[in-house]
Amino acid sequence: MLIGLSILKAAFNSFGDPMKKSLSLILAAVAAALALPAAAQFAKPEDAIKYRKASLTVIGTHFGRVGAMVNGRVPFDAKVAAENVDLVADLAKWPWTAFAEGTDKGETRAKPEIWKESGKFKEAADKFQAETLKLQAAAKTGNLDAIKTAFGATGASCKACHDTFRKD
Ligand code: HEC
Repeated sequence: MLIGLSILKAAFNSFGDPMKKSLSLILAAVAAALALPAAAQFAKPEDAIKYRKASLTVIGTHFGRVGAMVNGRVPFDAKVAAENVDLVADLAKWPWTAFAEGTDKGETRAKPEIWKESGKFKEAADKFQAETLKLQAAAKTGNLDAIKTAFGATGASCKACHDTFRKD
């Protein structure tokens, strides 16, 4: 990061003044966008709530398809399992910015603890993402036993978060 910044700075200093001016405007705009609270990325709190529920629903759908194979309800197909796991691993990054301040009311089961203990909530989200990466590695091997173990650990990370941060 620091190295990247100093390269940017060196490049910046090599430009002429008008160029510098427009570049610094762009950089200022980028910095402002990065500094915006996540809520500002959504026009309304309801939009953030809809977004996180939608992404969690899709996560649940694809995780459930893997679960059906793990539990023997549908025949195991390594390729289909890996495809579903890949989707879960990608989607695992999505819901969290939508738990912005001020999105605790309305059509939501989010508990106030999410904002009161935001560090713990982030830890739970990170843990879940780490488990999905392990599940992804297991799915790549095509070994059902390895998938079962990693699926169990991932499911436990969903449950741990729901137990603390989601209303029944
Ligand atoms: C870091 C916390 C956390 C983790 C990890 C997590 N969830 Fe959730 N989940 C929540 C919260 C909070 C809600 C309630 C969201 C709301 O109503 O605004 C929720 C809601 C849901 C919903 C309901 C969405 C809706 O439309 O109301 C489903 C389905 C779901 N989660 C599935 C899962 C599955 C499956 C996993 C793991 C593969 C998982 N979640 C992991 C916190 C988490």
